[in-house]
Amino acid sequence: MTEKDLLIEAAKQARENAHAPYSNFRVGAALRSTSGRIFSGCNVENATYGLTMCAERVAIFKAVSEGERGFSAIAVVTDTDVLTPPCGACRQLIWEFCGDIPVGMANLRGKAEIIQMKDLFPKPFDDSNL
Ligand code: THU
Repeated sequence: MTEKDLLIEAAKQARENAHAPYSNFRVGAALRSTSGRIFSGCNVENATYGLTMCAERVAIFKAVSEGERGFSAIAVVTDTDVLTPPCGACRQLIWEFCGDIPVGMANLRGKAEIIQMKDLFPKPFDDSNL
């Protein structure tokens, strides 16, 4: 399996753990660190709705909380025909910790696309603005 396929597979597996009883929209994400590890995450919803956490941020927080800092790619998997890009909040977090990495989006039927963060998030606010 290629590195890209491995990352998508990890995101698919993480999606199985999604806690999405309110939206029924199950998301899996997987993040590759430059040290070679893969950190995965799923969306975790809450009855208050607003406390819901996206799959991408779960993966990022897991990695960062384990001391990882450099990242080379992220993948997002859903079961939709139109592939799912990270939401605005996740784009901000991906930019903060990963910068201009490739973002792979895939569904369960083999459709996949890669887009660079600089194209997904063209005018970011970051530490260069402070
Ligand atoms: N969601 C994610 O986990 N990642 C995204 O990139 C888009 C949205 C989740 C949040 C919520 O649980 C559900 O999908 C519907 O918005």
